[in-house]
Amino acid sequence: MLVSGSWCEAIVVTLAILVFVTGYRPPWWFWTGNSHQSHRDKIKDEFPTVRDIPGPFSLPILGTRWIFSWFGYYRMEKIHLAYKDMNQHYGPLCKEIALWNYPVVSVYSRHDIELVLRRSPRYPLRPPQEIISYYRRSRKDRYTNLGLVNEQGETWQKLRDALTPKLMDPKTVLGYFPALNKVSDDFISLIKSRRKGNNIHGFEELAYTMGLESTCTLILGRHLGFLTDTSTTLTTKLAEAVRIHFTASRDAFYGLPLWKIFPTTYYKQLIESEDTIYNIISELLETIICEQKDDAHDAPLEAVFQSILREKTLDIRDKKAAIIDFIAAGIHTLGNTLVFIFHLIGRNPEVQKNLYDEVAMLAPKNCDINADNLRSATYLRACINESFRFIPTTPCIARILDESITLSGYHLDPGVSWNNN
Ligand code: HEM
Repeated sequence: MLVSGSWCEAIVVTLAILVFVTGYRPPWWFWTGNSHQSHRDKIKDEFPTVRDIPGPFSLPILGTRWIFSWFGYYRMEKIHLAYKDMNQHYGPLCKEIALWNYPVVSVYSRHDIELVLRRSPRYPLRPPQEIISYYRRSRKDRYTNLGLVNEQGETWQKLRDALTPKLMDPKTVLGYFPALNKVSDDFISLIKSRRKGNNIHGFEELAYTMGLESTCTLILGRHLGFLTDTSTTLTTKLAEAVRIHFTASRDAFYGLPLWKIFPTTYYKQLIESEDTIYNIISELLETIICEQKDDAHDAPLEAVFQSILREKTLDIRDKKAAIIDFIAAGIHTLGNTLVFIFHLIGRNPEVQKNLYDEVAMLAPKNCDINADNLRSATYLRACINESFRFIPTTPCIARILDESITLSGYHLDPGVSWNNN
């Protein structure tokens, strides 16, 4: 059946809109007309290339994103199982195809992961979260840039130099050691109060509260009492906003970028949660700044937020956004890490006994743990490292290759994106 003229127009217009909003350029767009065989071409002839890497069946334009759709065989809420299954099916390298047929390679072998991460070019090229970048660009009242996580190149370097020295300084954590000990004591009391027999109801929520309290202690330099005042709705609201932010970012990443055409549900959720996080932490920050002005005496330690506010090279919007981003970054990462570690240790009585013996030896009852004790806690450290290996808190660390590389026998050209899994 012939397609009528108006249908033809509709299809062409739809395709043109899609090309426009997704920024697609077909391969011939980049053709240089150079026909003689270069050294690079010869290497390509010898090694299998990205084209040969196995992976799920790819559809034209849509690529392999369909595997997470309603007719695909993986669920987005169980993404870790999807990547585990793909590893078992396809081996150490697995190729997914993003929208408009851009290859994204998942790298599973330790050797390959090390190879890519250790190359460390001057500025790591990381695929930005498009949807967040888009939103931040539209909020000039709050953001002058896309933030440390999404910026690239020199702007990223400038932000990193200005914002992270105090956070990365081991003296900061050591300085806050007594304060963090108190946070741990409050966490233990909270767990005890929620314990019924051998069960702790809602441990995940407690772990996020711990993530919030410890990150605030580190960044804002004071206890905010989230772990003691269990009636607070603020923590629940903030943790919920961070959770929605996380799931909406995931849906935006794996779904079609329809938010570029109209505000989709996940776009609205993302913006709403981004605003909630910003508003709650911003209010906390203002309260602390006001209280410090009233309280004339100097604090013994300068908090991370004070060092950021002192920074002369940055706009106040950048400083505020960074403090908020840091706190938001700590809640789920620390919370999930605790959930995973406790889950793994809880399943293994032998590990529990070894751990108990080590802790009892290093810090007998009623003794505060100090930094030296922690340095000697080799078994505890091994448990934490093993938990990161077994259930990574931050999987899918992504990079875009800036030069070609050979991984597991495949020759990959610059521009290919890859994830560590
Ligand atoms: C167990 C807890 C944590 C884990 C497992 C974790 C993991 C990571 C990883 C793997 C990256 C690198 C991502 C990449 O290179 O693409 C990263 C970056 C980052 N993390 Fe964390 N993190 C944790 C806690 C925190 C906390 C508590 C904060 C803030 C106080 C924080 C702030 C950041 C920031 C700002 C970046 C971006 C750095 C940059 O772009 O230069 N993280 N994190």
